[in-house]
Amino acid sequence: MAEFAVQSEGRSEGIVIKDDWPGYSLDLFSYPAHYSGDLDCVIIPHGVIMDRTERLARNIMDDLGDHAIVVLCVLKGGYQFCADLVDRIKDLSHNSNRTIPMTVHFIRLKSYLNDESTEDLHILGGEDLSFLAGKGIVGTGKTMKTLLKHVEAFGPKMIKVAGLLVKRVLHSSACVPDYVGFEIPNRFVVGYALDYNEYFRDLNHICVISNTGKMKYKI
Ligand code: HPA
Ligand code: MG
Repeated sequence: MAEFAVQSEGRSEGIVIKDDWPGYSLDLFSYPAHYSGDLDCVIIPHGVIMDRTERLARNIMDDLGDHAIVVLCVLKGGYQFCADLVDRIKDLSHNSNRTIPMTVHFIRLKSYLNDESTEDLHILGGEDLSFLAGKGIVGTGKTMKTLLKHVEAFGPKMIKVAGLLVKRVLHSSACVPDYVGFEIPNRFVVGYALDYNEYFRDLNHICVISNTGKMKYKI
């Protein structure tokens, strides 16, 4: 019953995109001409990302509205989501009598080469997170498990994770974020700051890369 109640409020797994979802044709949207031929389809249009992010901001405000929050943005892939989420929280905060004092910090994680996850996860810029002590945190980004352990060691009062995307991976032991934008098929996606070897961060929609694109930008 409790699980059902949570789902009915739009929490838990977020908007579910099924495995057989073919996506939208690129021809229906505008996107940078330098990527023509490099993408198969639009899996989440930019406008939908923005609408979902607005709701996540609302949920975060409802849950944490009376606490100061420390936002820890996971670079590079999380920068766009973090910026848009923080903007929406600011909008809500400015337009109500419950304002949230917020600071924003950045950490960098790197573990992918081409479309493969590599074993070694590097945490850059997170050596001293002592500013987290006794604060509430909303982290944004991926590869959260290692990072969470690292962050917990600094003794924050509360940790909440916001993830725009959660991939349906079989037998995954990864932790599920507290705030999820979309649950998506286990495919490599790019755009909205997510990259393939640093390309496609300058694409607004979340798209599936084509084989041509993979070959073109392979290293
Ligand atoms: N796209 C880009 N970066 C990623 C992905 C992905 O699908 N999964 C993990 N890092
Ligand atoms: Mg990457």
